[in-house]
Amino acid sequence: HFKTVMTHFSRYLPPGRVTNNDLSKLMDTNDAWITERSGIRERRFVEEPTTTSDLAIEAVKKILEESKLKPSDFDYIIASTLSPDFYFPGIAPIVQHKLGFPMIPAVDIRVQCSAFVYSTQLADAMIKSGQYKRILLVFSDVQSKLLDLTTNGRNVAVLFGDGAAAVICEAEECSESELPSTNNNKSGVIDTILGSDGTGAELLLIRSPGTATKGFLNPETHGLGDWHPKMEGRLVFKHAVSRMCEVAETLMKRHQITANDIACLIPHQANLRISEMVREKMELSPDKVFNNIHQYGNTTSATIPICINEALEQGRVKKGDLILTVAFGAGFTWGGSLIRL
Ligand code: ACO
Repeated sequence: HFKTVMTHFSRYLPPGRVTNNDLSKLMDTNDAWITERSGIRERRFVEEPTTTSDLAIEAVKKILEESKLKPSDFDYIIASTLSPDFYFPGIAPIVQHKLGFPMIPAVDIRVQCSAFVYSTQLADAMIKSGQYKRILLVFSDVQSKLLDLTTNGRNVAVLFGDGAAAVICEAEECSESELPSTNNNKSGVIDTILGSDGTGAELLLIRSPGTATKGFLNPETHGLGDWHPKMEGRLVFKHAVSRMCEVAETLMKRHQITANDIACLIPHQANLRISEMVREKMELSPDKVFNNIHQYGNTTSATIPICINEALEQGRVKKGDLILTVAFGAGFTWGGSLIRL
């Protein structure tokens, strides 16, 4: 048997801090509205000419340094972003090339804020199949260049920030009884649950560039598409809370554990109120949930691995701890994973 151990986590946040007060100079908003509604106090925005792959590369450089591994030690790259450098190709081959990885498979997956749970499930299945030994997961988003930073776009623009993270997934051979479970203390990915519901596709999206845009290929009109993220905030909020609670409950039932058996719940950082509602439903004390949305806003694909990296650094979680991650994102897509660090 093979199990998947997440051996290292890294994060990279660009240095440019943008406070709620900074945003109130660009649009009709204010610190009190943003803080009350979302818990966000500031976020990071890149400066030109920084791209999404640039942030990804910084996070990968850090993880290579910390793990003392070389690009030639890896056999697969899975990258997640909704804001690639180009419409195509994705960022995974750019990371492969710029950091001198061998010509290994490099794929982008598109599940927005559910990136961590989907990547975890993919990497775990690939490792368990025995095909791959060491997979690099990369998460990077530069939302700041997509946002409508005027009053028109304020319901979305105040929520997002830029950031990146990386995770190393290693195959470890073990006997059946050594596979990680909630009944032993073996490190590794224990289980993942994923879901999707495309009836929500147009409730949270960037419409252009896309082939559903009329005149997409007409040079006279294709600049007129809707390039900014659009969201039905209340509906997204409702679905996010119910799906995140659902996956948490299903995973706990399936593994016959209670919330008390979890060292830390790490929810996707979309809105502090969403995380609080999930926490209350699970009857967890505040110290058992990790949030950093006040500092970074919603960094889309990167929020959960950034949180795990910070939680480890701050001693909020440690090697051997059982963590539960839950996520919900555009698509709609969602999922949860139980991991022993
Ligand atoms: N500043 C000031 N006022 C604002 C702002 C702002 N930035 N944005 C909206 N408003 C106003 C609205 O115009 C509205 O005014 P009105 O009552 O006069 O019409 C009022 O504030 C209330 O707006 P609502 O949208 O109803 O506010 P709500 O309480 O629903 O909060 C929010 C909005 C924070 C967006 C919330 O709905 C939310 O968090 N939704 C989920 C967000 C989310 O999870 N997104 C990411 C999902 S994951 C992914 O994949 C990207």
